[in-house]
Amino acid sequence: MDNRSLVARSLAAVWHPCTQMKEHERVPLVPVARGQGAWLEDFEGRRFVDGVSSWWVNLFGHANPEINAAIADQLGCLPHAMLAGFTHEPVVALSERLARLAPGRLGHAFYASDGASATEIAIKMACHAWRNRGHPERNLVVHLEGGYHGETLGALSVTDVAIFRDAYAPLVRRNLLAPFPAQRAGSREFQCESCAEEAAGALARLLEERGESVAAMIVEPLVQGASGMRMYHPRYLALARELCDRHGVLLIADEIMTGFGRTGTMFACEQAGIAPDLMCLSKGITGGYLPLSCVLATDEVYGAFYDDEVSRAFLHSHSYTGNALACRAALAVLDLFERGDVIAANRAKAARFDALAAPLAAHPAVRDWRRLGMIWAFEVAGAGPGFARRAFEVALREGALLRPIGPTVYFMPPYVTDEEAFAVLVRAAMSIADELGTRE
Ligand SMILES: Cc1ncc(COP(=O)(O)O)c(C=O)c1O
Repeated sequence: MDNRSLVARSLAAVWHPCTQMKEHERVPLVPVARGQGAWLEDFEGRRFVDGVSSWWVNLFGHANPEINAAIADQLGCLPHAMLAGFTHEPVVALSERLARLAPGRLGHAFYASDGASATEIAIKMACHAWRNRGHPERNLVVHLEGGYHGETLGALSVTDVAIFRDAYAPLVRRNLLAPFPAQRAGSREFQCESCAEEAAGALARLLEERGESVAAMIVEPLVQGASGMRMYHPRYLALARELCDRHGVLLIADEIMTGFGRTGTMFACEQAGIAPDLMCLSKGITGGYLPLSCVLATDEVYGAFYDDEVSRAFLHSHSYTGNALACRAALAVLDLFERGDVIAANRAKAARFDALAAPLAAHPAVRDWRRLGMIWAFEVAGAGPGFARRAFEVALREGALLRPIGPTVYFMPPYVTDEEAFAVLVRAAMSIADELGTRE
């Protein structure tokens, strides 16, 4: 196999996700032959640091020996069995461990395969729980400006990113939009407690007016990923929790991106000292190996479905619900977290990486430099149309895989990234700022 022929076959046969395929006439499609640690490699030995953890899923590196061994062991025993009417050790052990790790009392785990499916499940669960309690009129969901929760139709109904939503507007139900808790994404806004309080005031007014028709509120805790690593103050989450309690609204924390240590704590909600009623997990849950997602629910939500009547049950399913291989990969990921005290190790690593990135943060074309946990982001002054595509190409040339979102460049590397690999990301971003930014 060589780069050129794989790319040609792929462009002929594969419809790539989130892609205007015609752009590949100009933008290179990158063939990946193998991955090792934080690095991906093509068929000619060209290596790239995976600066976006392969769409935010990879935690402990590509081809991690411990996750590999766990999956291989499970392969020889039970790759998959249906979960309705049956159960198996990996899904039980994973559910128990997630319940122990999650904030609050989220003791009931419902599984699916992708993040968007978890969003669908959480929305359906919240509305159905209210219906079972005799309030079918509570069926709207409050969501935040700029929020992203996936791209299936239900998930789009709580996603506020025009490029993903507009073409499907007639198919998508309108929910209730609340203001984002900071005006801009930047570092000063991130610290802005009064912005959080102001946005909570608007949420309070919305719930005063419409609360009795609302089943749930969904948030990406602390950072909105897909709309450009937009960070906000934890105070907003604490106030939103209070308001949801006051109005009987279930709080859904979408920790699909933020979960598993990405923001510096195991789950971002911890930094606000809150526990949601429903929590969506995916992405890092299997360390970037296999598709698995999960919604954790409280006893109260679970209890609303526990009944003699089948129609009051949560009759949702996917064929691969609770796949044994994926659950076993997830257990290996949790072992790695425990054994390496990864959260503390990442804190020290992020501080060392901050020092490496200091010249970039001070670059005259860099705006709103910010970091939360293992996420670094900034905007490039003067980034015009086509910036993201050109920046992607500059980064590739420098040996880094970066996928800017509009004018926002970010690093979300695997936790196994070392200083040498992080320095490659910084150098690539310096070239982006030098070549594509303006210095006012
Ligand atoms: C916060 C959040 N929710 C949901 C999703 C959707 O996950 P998936 O792409 O696995 O459907 C994403 C994906 O980026 C996400 O960042």
